[in-house]
Amino acid sequence: MKVAYVTFADPLGHDDERETALAAWLGAGVEGTPVRWDDQDVDWSSFDAAVVRSTWDYIDRRDEFVAWAHRTGERTRLLNPATVLEWNTDKTYLRDLGVPTVPTHWSDEGIPEWDEYVVKPAISAGARDTIRTADRAVAEAHAAELVRQGRTVMVQPYLDTVEHEGELSLLYFGGQFSHAVRRHPMLAGGGQELDLNNRATLRDPDTDQFEVAELVLSKVSEELLYARVDLVRMPDGEPVLIELELTEPYLFLRYELDAPDLFANALVSMLRG
Ligand SMILES: Nc1ncnc2c1ncn2[C@@H]1O[C@H](COP(=O)(O)OP(=O)(O)O)[C@@H](O)[C@H]1O
Ligand SMILES: [Mg+2]
Repeated sequence: MKVAYVTFADPLGHDDERETALAAWLGAGVEGTPVRWDDQDVDWSSFDAAVVRSTWDYIDRRDEFVAWAHRTGERTRLLNPATVLEWNTDKTYLRDLGVPTVPTHWSDEGIPEWDEYVVKPAISAGARDTIRTADRAVAEAHAAELVRQGRTVMVQPYLDTVEHEGELSLLYFGGQFSHAVRRHPMLAGGGQELDLNNRATLRDPDTDQFEVAELVLSKVSEELLYARVDLVRMPDGEPVLIELELTEPYLFLRYELDAPDLFANALVSMLRG
């Protein structure tokens, strides 16, 4: 089987999971080829499937990316499917999912009083254009600027539980739980300081976290090759969804010995499907 490992023009070479994934695929009988999603010369129909992985430059070109996904999905088996990618690349999906989520105010006007605010655009990754501030006027100004740019804004209370408890990412392949990691907080004090190193620690989810993750996944009807459910705890301890990553999540493959093989086997069984 020939499968495209879909990536991006990567001057820094920082998809550090690629070789791990490709090696596991090969072990499962899948010949993977790294391909840039926006490479015009690719014949997608020459692949049995195309697996979206590190397409991390789509944020500024989301319409182009979604159009590409639909086109490509007509030529080969796109995983995850184009309809999923279209839905999942805009965090407005959080509004109607029907699961416990981080409280979110979807406007630059009438922002509730909170101790600290997180203001982010609905289309983002890696905390791009996301700020944390205790200053309500700063939160309002950033929200208004995002709206001025024609973007959908999300205003949330800053949950400081991410600093001690962390954000928990649960990884699923082919609908099966693989592993989970506790991730380090990305919004450092005051500003927009990011930790893009995806630093994390392997961790067993608690029962209540499993329950929310399974509830979240039950809301998606399409078959998924990969899913990452990102949870945080509210101050009262309730686990809530911060993000469901079905597009291009970092998979923390090297944190769990069996994870690359689970990923590869899920791919093979979906192709044999
Ligand atoms: N309400 C919040 N409270 C605390 N930290 C947050 C909050 N929202 C976002 N963050 C931090 O910013 C990171 C990025 O936000 P997220 O909503 O996951 O968007 P994306 O990963 O798509 O940029 C999170 O992983 C978390 O560390
Ligand atoms: Mg995130």
